[in-house]
Amino acid sequence: MKAGLIPYLILMVVLLGLLSGLMTANRDSQAAASGNATRGEVIFRKGMNEAPPCITCHALSEGVYSLGPVLAGVRERAGNRVEGLSEADYLQQSIVEPTAFIVSGYRPIMFPAYAEHLSEQDLRDVIAFLLTL
Ligand code: HEC
Repeated sequence: MKAGLIPYLILMVVLLGLLSGLMTANRDSQAAASGNATRGEVIFRKGMNEAPPCITCHALSEGVYSLGPVLAGVRERAGNRVEGLSEADYLQQSIVEPTAFIVSGYRPIMFPAYAEHLSEQDLRDVIAFLLTL
């Protein structure tokens, strides 16, 4: 191999590394982007596949009675709840595995079986909606 090629090879490796880093960072925004927030809001308000609507327990604005946490502004706190979980990952965990992290001041009474009632797309849509709040 010509010695002159080596710097180019190194450059390629560095660029590929940067690119894959960027792609991981983008995963969350892509997860949100692949969800349909409008459809997610319908699931939130009406439920899906016989699972209870989220709105039964989660108000969307302060000052309204809410059995679970009011979800206005949940996007801002989602990324700080659990070390190592991004906003979208935390929201997903909150829905499919609600007892994994219990919000302080609340009891673990969230409907536990959304993972069985919501499809992957339903979940993506609900998460996309939550990310608009
Ligand atoms: C039966 C009541 C109930 C239903 C229905 C319910 N939740 Fe919850 N949810 C709770 C309670 C109570 C908590 C707080 C305790 C905990 O962390 O598990 C909670 C916590 C959460 C959190 C974490 C909030 C935070 O501040 O960190 C999210 C996000 C959430 N729920 C989303 C949803 C979504 C989306 C749905 C519908 C797919 C839903 N919940 C349906 C009761 C419910």
